[in-house]
Amino acid sequence: MKLLLENIKELVQVEEDPVSYRAGKEMSKVNTIKNAFVIIRDEIIEEFGRMDQLKDVYCDDDLLIEIDCSNRLVYPAYCDSHTHLVYPSAREKEFVDRIKGLSYEEIARRGGGILNSAKRLHEASEEELFNDAMHRIIEIMKMGTGAVEIKSGYGLNTEDELKMLRVIRWIKETAPICVRATFLGAHAIPAEYKSNPSKYVDVIINEMIPQVAAEELADFIDVFCDKGFFTVEDTERILMAGLKYGLKPKIHANELGLTGGVQVGVKYGALSVDHLEFIEENEIAALQNSETMPTVLPGAAFFLGMKLSPVREMIEAGLPIALASDFNPGSSPSGNMSLIAAMGCINYKMLPEEVINATTLNTAYAMGISDSYGSIARGKVANLFITSEIPGIEYIPYYYGSSLVETVILNGEVQT
Ligand code: NIG
Ligand code: FE
Repeated sequence: MKLLLENIKELVQVEEDPVSYRAGKEMSKVNTIKNAFVIIRDEIIEEFGRMDQLKDVYCDDDLLIEIDCSNRLVYPAYCDSHTHLVYPSAREKEFVDRIKGLSYEEIARRGGGILNSAKRLHEASEEELFNDAMHRIIEIMKMGTGAVEIKSGYGLNTEDELKMLRVIRWIKETAPICVRATFLGAHAIPAEYKSNPSKYVDVIINEMIPQVAAEELADFIDVFCDKGFFTVEDTERILMAGLKYGLKPKIHANELGLTGGVQVGVKYGALSVDHLEFIEENEIAALQNSETMPTVLPGAAFFLGMKLSPVREMIEAGLPIALASDFNPGSSPSGNMSLIAAMGCINYKMLPEEVINATTLNTAYAMGISDSYGSIARGKVANLFITSEIPGIEYIPYYYGSSLVETVILNGEVQT
């Protein structure tokens, strides 16, 4: 089956020579082709170029389906490299508690927050979790997301962590979107281990990680290395254990304080360190010349009213930035990546080109898939979206309240 997208007003994030990610000044570079075409064969991008380069030979196929993209832009689908979108139920009551003045940490200390979700997850069946999560998957696909990382971390005991990861595997097998699974047993310290958190770390290391690995349920391992959660020492123990089983780290770091989470992530070769509201010279220096993608989660900072990560400073220091949704019931109940792009521009003063790199190529890198996703390049998977009629690339972050994603194509198939 062949698909021809023709008369595209502007084809965005095109790569003749694909790179793994863009950093520093390069982040404001996005290659585009005006009045363009794309040919997709089966699930792969086969060819692209200017309309005047479109040769008959590309179109001599009976099975060719043509889509007219006049006045429309075509983008690579978003890659969302940080979500917790398998969860038992929403936590809108905590939202009201926060409006009334309680902090995220105070709610967590009272047994709300992540522990509240863990209690409810224990009572939910795999099927219920799967059905709820699939609604969210369909919602984000419609909004242009073509690859998503999903974390466990609302189980917090061996049985329930495995249950969550099996649900993520089920989604991976069912949905057309590319899914990567992350084991986050170290998301919070369960109440029964409050006085002895290192005993819980022992359970993660001795019970959970070997079973997660035996069933091949996770691609990555994550730790919430932050004030009031897991220490740098806990994190090191967990990462070393995970690495023995081939689980590459992705770390929740520096959301609540300057805790050393960035440095420990870099030390163990983390694919990304995420949140980064608290970041100073030492953290920036640790990230320079590392393989670790600094990832900012604008939705969580917005929803919790946190201080903002100094994104401009990081870009000026030559770092790359990825922007992900953090879709979860407590700190960011949205997986809308166009909105995340708008927040990148409005709150973090990123240029429209920078947010395109930050939500496609750099997030693809942060989930280990930038060789196949995150840009429009020959041989990459045909995951892309066609916008409604808009004037140019500034428009998605500018017109932030509306969905401008009209048609989504995943694995070369138009989603309906
Ligand atoms: O990334 N920071 C830790 N974990 C999530 C929040 C999860 C929750 O509140 O349920 C986050 O923001
Ligand atoms: Fe998170």
